Order: sequence, then C-alpha cells, then structure tokens
Amino acid sequence: FERTLVILKPDGLQRALSGEVLSRFEQRGLQLVAAKLIRPSAAHLKQHYWELRDKPFFTNLVTFMSSGPIIAMVWQGTDAVAIGRAIIGATDPMDALPGTIRGDLCITVGRCEEGPKEYWELIGKRNKFSCLTNSRFRNVVHGSDSVESAKHEIDLWFKPAELVMWERCCHDWVFESPSS
Ligand code: GTP
Ligand code: MG
Repeated sequence: FERTLVILKPDGLQRALSGEVLSRFEQRGLQLVAAKLIRPSAAHLKQHYWELRDKPFFTNLVTFMSSGPIIAMVWQGTDAVAIGRAIIGATDPMDALPGTIRGDLCITVGRCEEGPKEYWELIGKRNKFSCLTNSRFRNVVHGSDSVESAKHEIDLWFKPAELVMWERCCHDWVFESPSS
C-alpha cells in the first residue's frame, strides 16, 4: 500500500468543510490511518514548504497556513498519492475541474482584475488574509505530490506511533485480489 499526507487548510476548517473533505477520501476507497487537529507553527510550515522557499509567495503562504487550526491526515491505499491529487484537483482554484475538492469547494470569483469589487470588499472586511492577490492560497487542502515527498511529509507531521493500523471490514469490497 501507499500513503499520502493530506492537510485540511485553515480556510477549509473555518468554512466547516472537514466532513465533506474527509468523505471524499473515504468514498474513493482510501483509508484514514492518522489524523490530528493542530495549529502549526511557522517554523514547522517552513520545513513543510521548504521546496517553495524561493517563491515570492512563500512568506504569505506560511503566514496563512499558520493563521488557524488545520487537520493533518494520513490516507492509505493503492496509488494513494495519485488518487489524492486527483481528488484534490489543480493548485489554482480557477483551473480546478468540477468534481475535485478545489473545483467544487474553492470560492473564487475570478482573477485579480475580474473579481466583482463588492465581493472582495465584503470578504476583505471579514478576514485580513482575503485579498485579490492571495486567493490561490485558499485552496482548502494540501496533498503530497509524490511518493517520496509523502514519506518525508508524513515523518514531518506524525510520529510513527501516531499511525494506526486497522483492518477495514469492507476491504475486500473495495480492492480486487491481485489474481482476479
Ligand atoms: P499543495 O497541495 O498545497 O502543496 O498544493 P500544490 O501541490 O497543488 O501546489 P504547490 O505545492 O506548488 O504550492 C503550495 C501552495 O502554495 C498551493 O496550494 C497554494 O496554496 C500556494 N501557491 C502555489 N502557487 C501559488 C501562486 O502562484 N500564488 C499564490 N498566491 N499562491 C500559490
Ligand atoms: Mg505541493
């Protein structure tokens, strides 16, 4: 089996999307083997996003991700990393297809120039992190992008003892045996 790290980001938790997001992974046959609600430190997030350290949005990304609690999860199953990415959808909510978490659940009214002014005034007043230029941070979930980075990220977010081994009663209904 394979494992992937998924994070419900601060926007997803604040928007009460945790049940919806967990359901989508469960419904695709992945198995939850670890989960915790935490408010991550900036130092921890800098490690998590280390590969993006040279990007212009790096500091804002770390600030946003540490702005509130998140749910870190480990999902397990055949091709868990690729399936996780497919469930989540494209990075930019504007490119994410319907049927994906980001395509269905991200609130995006358009790119900078296109967004209706009243909408941005409304959310800008409610949340200091909402503004035209950083709407792409608010894409509800993170998912590991390769088997290698999944291993690294799972080690970063969970102690080995926090991963729970359990047998799903529906396992044989989800997965065909290799010989069939
Ligand atoms: P994650 O699953 O969160 O890692 O997203 P991803 O793998 O689809 O994208 P990537 O790892 O390249 O970027 C990490 C996160 O940084 C994204 O999910 C966005 O929240 C944010 N991000 C990426 N590119 C941009 C960008 O060009 N502008 C802004 N504002 N944010 C970005
Ligand atoms: Mg990524």
